[in-house]
Formats: sequence, C-alpha cells, structure tokens
Amino acid sequence: MTWKASDEQYELEKYRMKKEFNIVSLHQVVNALFILGIILIGRNNNITIGDFVAYSQLLSMSTATIKMLSGGIGTLINQGLYIVDMNKFITIPEKTTKKMAVLEHVDRTHIFSVENISFKYPNSDSFILKNISFAISQGETVAIVGENGSGKSTLIKCLLGLYSAKEGRILIDGEDIEDIPQKELYRKMTALFQDFVNYELTIEENIALSETEDINQIQFNKAINEAEVIQFLDMLSEKEKTTLGYTLDNGRELSGGQWQRIALGRALYKEAEIIFLDEPTASLDPISEVKLINRFIDICKGKTAIIISHRLASCLSADKIIVLHEGRVIEVGNHEELLLLRGQYYQMFQSQANSYQYQVGCSS
Ligand SMILES: Nc1ncnc2c1ncn2[C@@H]1O[C@H](COP(=O)(O)OP(=O)(O)OP(=O)(O)O)[C@@H](O)[C@H]1O
Ligand SMILES: [Mg+2]
Repeated sequence: MTWKASDEQYELEKYRMKKEFNIVSLHQVVNALFILGIILIGRNNNITIGDFVAYSQLLSMSTATIKMLSGGIGTLINQGLYIVDMNKFITIPEKTTKKMAVLEHVDRTHIFSVENISFKYPNSDSFILKNISFAISQGETVAIVGENGSGKSTLIKCLLGLYSAKEGRILIDGEDIEDIPQKELYRKMTALFQDFVNYELTIEENIALSETEDINQIQFNKAINEAEVIQFLDMLSEKEKTTLGYTLDNGRELSGGQWQRIALGRALYKEAEIIFLDEPTASLDPISEVKLINRFIDICKGKTAIIISHRLASCLSADKIIVLHEGRVIEVGNHEELLLLRGQYYQMFQSQANSYQYQVGCSS
C-alpha cells in the first residue's frame, strides 16, 4: 500500500514517537520514585550498608524488569499500528465498476489497447507516464525496455489495473479496464514483480497462495516443474511441506535465486491468460537472467506475456519491443526492426552486445 501523501507517514511517525516518549517518561518517573524511596528510608531509619546494597539491587532488578516491560509495550504499540494499517487495507471495498452501455471507437482486435494514457502518483506533481499508446495482440510476447525510472513498472501496474490512469484509457478485449470487476481482472492476469514478497509459509502454500484450502495438484506439479522449484525440493526433508524463512524454528531459508523460483511458481500456478514478468532477476547473474527470461518466454507460449528486462539479449525472441524513455514510448517494433532504426534500442543493445558475445551485425 503506498502512502496517500507523505503527510500521512509523518503523522504516523509522530504518533509512534509520542507513545514511545510516554513509555520512556513513565520508566524515568518509576526510577525516580525508587531512588526517592531509598533516600527516605535511609533518612528515617539508619540503614546498614547491607540494607543499602539490597535496596540498590532491588532497584536495578526492578529497573531491568520495567525496561523489558516498556520495551514489550513499545513493540506491541508498533505492531498495533501495522495491524491498523493491515485492517484498513483488508477492508478497502472492492472497486465498483460503472458499466458503460456502449463503448465508442473500440478496438476489439487486440487483447490490450492502450490509448493515450498518462499517469502520475498521488504525491507527485509531474506525470510519470505521458500520453502512451500501443496495442498487444492475443498470444504476443512483448518486452518493455528503458533506462531506470523510465516508468516500466508503473506502466505494467496500470495494465494490471492496480493503478488507474489519469488520462486516456486501457481496453482489455475491447472492454475498458475501469469497467471490469477486479476479481475478473485478477483471474485473467498474473504477475511476478521486481519486488516480490517472500512469504514465510510452506512451499506448497507459497505457490498455491490464491487457493491454499483446495490445492489443485496437477497445476501445482506443473508450476513447480516449470519454475524449476522441483530441482531443490528433493533436497528438503519435508519437500513441499517445508516451512520457509527463519522466523519459525523449523523454517528453512532459501537463496535469493530459490525464492525467485518460488515466486515464479506462484505466478504460474494461477494459469492466467496474461502473464507479466517485471525483471525478477536481482539475485541472478546476467547469463542466468537471460536464461530465466528465455525459459519464461517458452513457458508462456500461447499466452500473452509482457516482460520487463534490462538485458536486451532476452528481447531477441519477443514479438514486440516497447522502448520507454522518461515516461514516453519512443520506439516500438521487433528486434530486427529496432536495430534498423538505429535509435535508442540500437544504442542500448550495442552497449550490451559485447558482454553477451552477440554481434549486432550478425543478428540484424
Ligand atoms: N509509489 C511511488 N510514488 C511516487 N513515485 C513513484 C512511485 N513508484 C515509482 N515512482 C517514480 O516513478 C518513476 C518511474 O518508476 P518506475 O518504477 O515505474 O521505473 P522503472 O522503469 O520500472 O525503473 P527500474 O528500471 O529501476 O525498475 C520514478 O521516477 C520513480 O521515482
Ligand atoms: Mg521497475
């Protein structure tokens, strides 16, 4: 959940600090009372050195206990704030759709028709996506490329219906994305994000997260095979029932690459018709990254796949490449067409070509 405004985060931090200040103050007051108590006892009854040592020890033990207690209360308050956020998030009502009777000038030949969309984040004045238009046909593999911050992840979040474009419209199978009920939208599409989440659940639950009550074994086996989870599953004594992460005593921690395979398995388990892959390759070396994306393209044959990648070697087999620059689409075409253009894609490809031992001249 993104902050509606940075003010909201500021208010929450202020509230947290206030509570922590109250606890620390209470702690100091109790300490002061103890010291005062010892002084008073000392003044009224001539206490011995033994008594003094005993009272001092009592004071330090009590201080430690109060410290522990206030620490516990502080943690409780902190966690409570997250629970409040979580509750707010869970109770967000599903977006209601306002079915329009007839859509005019509708393109029904493409699975995605993006028409002049512009988008800006609520806490920002400038547009991140600017007047973007393109179309994607059923079954196409599309690569979105561009430098860091050019708007690739933001664009796919708009295509997924997670963000609403401020201007323009996105049609899916000829229907405005704003008019499609969220459940239907999420059934159609699945995504593996750049910043995917590691759930400290069992492998089985991690993969079949969308329906842990009634796991479809055939889909599950297919997903763990395609995502190559099966390769390390045999090394775990409890196989798919192994709990992941280090929080629980019996949890097993995985490597970054293994967590990625779990996340890929989760995306594939859903068997959606449109699949998004946002460069989930942070823990992979460049060669493994190209291999993963090529395998992903293979797995997605027959489906519509939209991939974000910085490794242009993985774009060779894409049907269409969309080049983004500062929130605008500057080039669209396949690998050969874009090389012939000698524009930004050509420049980017050429600068990476040597490291992958591809010769620009040979592939064009
Ligand atoms: N939640 C957000 N709130 C405000 N601005 C954001 C948010 N997320 C991204 N941005 C800004 O939008 C711009 C585009 O970000 P985006 O993540 O879409 O780029 P990207 O092309 O995916 O980059 P990268 O290649 O690094 O993943 C950046 O300037 C970024 O700072
Ligand atoms: Mg990104």
